[in-house]
Amino acid sequence: MYSFSNRMNEVSARAVREILKLTADPNVIAFSAGSPANEAFPIETIQEIMNEAMEKNGTKVLQYGITEGLDLLREAYLNHLAVPKGLSVSIDNIMTTTGATQGIHLACDVFLDPGDVVLVESPSFLSTLMLFKKYFVKCIPLEMDEDGIMIEDLEEKIRLHQPKMLYTIPTFQNPTGKTLPEERRKKIAELASENNVIVLEDDPYGDLRYRGEEISPIKKFDQSGHVILINSFSKIISPGLRVGAIVADEKILGKMTVSKQFADTHTTTLAQYVCAEFLNRNLLPEHLISIRQLYKERMETMLNWMEVYFPKGTNYTKPDGGLFIWAELPGECNTQELLKKAVADYQVAFVPGAPYYINPQDGRNFMRLNFSANTPEKIQEGMKRLSDLFSENHKF
Ligand SMILES: Cc1ncc(COP(=O)(O)O)c(C=O)c1O
Repeated sequence: MYSFSNRMNEVSARAVREILKLTADPNVIAFSAGSPANEAFPIETIQEIMNEAMEKNGTKVLQYGITEGLDLLREAYLNHLAVPKGLSVSIDNIMTTTGATQGIHLACDVFLDPGDVVLVESPSFLSTLMLFKKYFVKCIPLEMDEDGIMIEDLEEKIRLHQPKMLYTIPTFQNPTGKTLPEERRKKIAELASENNVIVLEDDPYGDLRYRGEEISPIKKFDQSGHVILINSFSKIISPGLRVGAIVADEKILGKMTVSKQFADTHTTTLAQYVCAEFLNRNLLPEHLISIRQLYKERMETMLNWMEVYFPKGTNYTKPDGGLFIWAELPGECNTQELLKKAVADYQVAFVPGAPYYINPQDGRNFMRLNFSANTPEKIQEGMKRLSDLFSENHKF
């Protein structure tokens, strides 16, 4: 019998796999995955850009590229995304990646040793929590109020645990949808610098704002190079393209380049070309207006029907953007058990709260609901099914 590495014994992708499986059955109304709407993909534009890529730059996009990424995309990212967000960086601070997933992985690869302490929001993105296990680090949960990380708790835990890294999703957080105010962002950048803590700022949702004022990334307030900003084109153009970007200190990117060489040499050139052209043709602003409108309507539909159908005493977030609502049911509850019934008997799916916590018990009453992937009609029907599930299976 073969024996797997200790590293792989630490991780189980079961929770994520189960979620993805649930969405495959067309009869199930899935509020589980964080997928963009199929209707949101700019298919014709992408097709046209790909044709042009082959006609004008065929050999370039089909040949090996450099690990740091296609210059065309790094420059376009700089001009259209980084600079408008107030980041004072150059192309040398930008690397393109195979999704934000790879950016997170590279940051772990270059910074984490077994036994290191990583501070994480509680709750936090389940895939990254699982990834941390592979690096044999100790994750310490940080308390959150309605605006995210609480600075006093962060200061206390930095003092107690001397962490190597803080992992945060400050804008429209996954799973809660919460957004960290600017003052706290400044303070986090300061604390990171003073205490030599790497801040892994994961921001795939920042451009999906439906109300309220734009807010700058923590990276903008970074004076010492401790903040690594991870971005993605997954939610704003297409996750199937698998393109993301990292903004970081040159020295950090140098190490990451070595790590990425081992991983995949470089991100698919054709996919990078598509994202670069999308930006350079200035198509993103209009595209964002249209998907923000689509998702805002869906979010409001979900919130309205939750008001009607969810048990009295349910608490849920009302985000200003992103793709998720985070709900806490009242009473004795186990949403992981409820999910099995939800799918089998009511054909509706959500993600239970447990895997988003270091201590899964903390998530028993919680569920994450995605609102982007279903039409308003489906959302209403799904909320009705959840209402039936709750009233027939849960004592409040
Ligand atoms: C917080 C967070 N980080 C990273 C990712 C991964 O994004 P990508 O598709 O760019 O790898 C996701 C995807 O859902 C996410 O929610």
